[in-house]
Amino acid sequence: MRSIYVTTPIYYVNDKPHIGHAYTSIAADALCRWHRRCGDDVWMLTGTDEHGQKVLRSAALRGISPQAHCDELSEHFRALLRLVGVQNDDFIRTTEPRHTRVVQAVLQHLYDRGDIYAADYEGWYSTAAERFWTEKDLIDGKCPDTGQAVEWVTEKNWFFKMGAYADQLRAWIDENPGFLAPASRKSEVVGALRKEIGDLCISRPKERMSWGIELPFDPDYVTYVWFDALLNYLSAVGYHPDPAQRSPDFDRRWPAAFHLVGKDILATHSIYWSTMLFALGLPPARCLYAHGWWMVEGRKMSKSLGNVVDPTMLVRAYGAEQLRYFLLREIPFGGDGDFSHQAFFNRTNADLANDLGNLAHRALSMSEKWLGGVVPALDADTEADLALGALAAKVGEGFGPLFEAAQFSKALELLWELVSAGNKYIDSQAPWALNKSGQVARLGGVLRRSLEICRIAAALLAPILPSKSQELADKLGLPENPLQRVGSLDGLIDGAPLRCGEPLFPRLLELPAEVTAALSAALAEAPPEPAPKPKKSPKTPTSAPMSETTAAPAAEATPAAGPALIEYDDFAKIALRTGLVKDAARHPKADRLLVLTIDLGEAQPRTIVAGLAQTYAPEVLVGQTVVVVANLKPIKLRGVESHGMVLAVGGDAGVQALATASAPVAPGTVVR
Ligand code: MSP
Repeated sequence: MRSIYVTTPIYYVNDKPHIGHAYTSIAADALCRWHRRCGDDVWMLTGTDEHGQKVLRSAALRGISPQAHCDELSEHFRALLRLVGVQNDDFIRTTEPRHTRVVQAVLQHLYDRGDIYAADYEGWYSTAAERFWTEKDLIDGKCPDTGQAVEWVTEKNWFFKMGAYADQLRAWIDENPGFLAPASRKSEVVGALRKEIGDLCISRPKERMSWGIELPFDPDYVTYVWFDALLNYLSAVGYHPDPAQRSPDFDRRWPAAFHLVGKDILATHSIYWSTMLFALGLPPARCLYAHGWWMVEGRKMSKSLGNVVDPTMLVRAYGAEQLRYFLLREIPFGGDGDFSHQAFFNRTNADLANDLGNLAHRALSMSEKWLGGVVPALDADTEADLALGALAAKVGEGFGPLFEAAQFSKALELLWELVSAGNKYIDSQAPWALNKSGQVARLGGVLRRSLEICRIAAALLAPILPSKSQELADKLGLPENPLQRVGSLDGLIDGAPLRCGEPLFPRLLELPAEVTAALSAALAEAPPEPAPKPKKSPKTPTSAPMSETTAAPAAEATPAAGPALIEYDDFAKIALRTGLVKDAARHPKADRLLVLTIDLGEAQPRTIVAGLAQTYAPEVLVGQTVVVVANLKPIKLRGVESHGMVLAVGGDAGVQALATASAPVAPGTVVR
């Protein structure tokens, strides 16, 4: 039995959880569910980081005590776990006595060993980032992490002899190639360790910041929030520096730890945390895996930009399992990616409703209709059957190692090779023709293999789609669907009852109403924003529902090589004008289109059809000044003649914003 102890970072309770928090927790849960299915000894820990300046400030802003604030906010993080189906074994809060007791014992132990000493500290302190910076770290005199002002502070503080363990850490990284993952991030840490790493200031004077764990050897100070927080990984599993006071379970959990963290906190985990462990005489975690960030239109999510993606809304709008699938499938775990509703919509429809859902529905409904609704027997293998079997074997062998290495999207891509092959197999074997010509044994064999692919998919997808996989297994007449035989097209029970029922995943016809309403509201409130940094556009499936819309083509995110150049004269041919939207209505025949009445300063307002209906409610557009291509030849779009085009921002993933005029201008003003 392998032991695996999966952790997420403990989340700051300065605000409600967003999609980034849901991401790590879902990934950790999927990994744990996989290992539980493998029969491993699994423990999943998550929790909340409740001390420090940020939390104190949030509580002060709300006019309540920090503890009351933490109690309330921590509950939001717990609720999110339940909502997205995370089965954590423990949830730790750094204000709990079981944690503070261990932090104080560790501090005392390191102090007694001479690993903690007092010295004067001078430096640039950033309240927002809760840390000191050196002069050369600052960017334009401001904190490089937050861009906020810094102040020069001189004060006595307590230091951990981090630098004394730097060589041990360098050697550890060299000797344990799997310690830092993915490989692309390892070089960042190795680079940072080429320089001297110095010692770590681990205290804050109470007079400046009192919301923390008191130092046992100096009551005027509290512990630096990172030193406190990192120890959660030990305090939660029964560690104590005195072996006599340790839980007997501790050795089961440490060092089998798999820490999932965001790329922004890889340095704190690899350098602070590992050296702290060395000082305690413990080996570092087995693996530190840094994932990338979810962005929105190439920007970090932030309250001030109003672009924070709320996971609870996504669950209501699309479903918890759809969210789990999208997050783990859409971007490679380790890289950054852009969140967009259009991408979510496309991915859910393409993979779940079309590929997997269709395969299951076709195989089950034909078995029900023509074979009495029971699992049919296999027949002798043809060449096509052997090829399908070889693919199943490849998937059965390759999926697990990829999943265990947190390569979720790659594992799913591999499985989808089989799902797609299953649909093609049905197309090429044409069971309807076999039925018509009365070839019952072959019909049974073809449907059996198609049903077997559904079984394999359900078994492998269970860690990501727990209830949908169970539903699929039930339809296939399997009370349980273990991982055994995931590489073979022979795992169903001959004659077991099948149940087709409703399709596994309903096909989405348009963006959920709640999403469109939220997008419209965000548009109405959004402050004017600077242009986003050029970025690679995310890969999206081809079934983009906006693609047939010609009325409002989306500008592509700038490709690396840049677009083809045109002459100024070519540009001058395009008459761009501002237009005031006087009226807007849904197109009577097309869900994606709006029919707009736009004043361009001409004798009569024009009718312009635009593909904006999935992003904007019509009433939100009335009164907005938009940019219009005014000299396009009229074109009929689903029966309505359009006299121009409204410019909008967005790539394949759909319209994300309108090109609007930020200053008040008269209708018909020339745009250059
Ligand atoms: N409290 C510290 C962690 C201490 S662990 C001993 C912390 N908390 S956090 O709430 O700010 O961030 C928690 C995690 O969320 C980090 O791993 C961070 O990378 C992740 N994310 C925050 N925003 C994110 C995205 N937009 N996308 C993906 N993950 C992101 O840091």
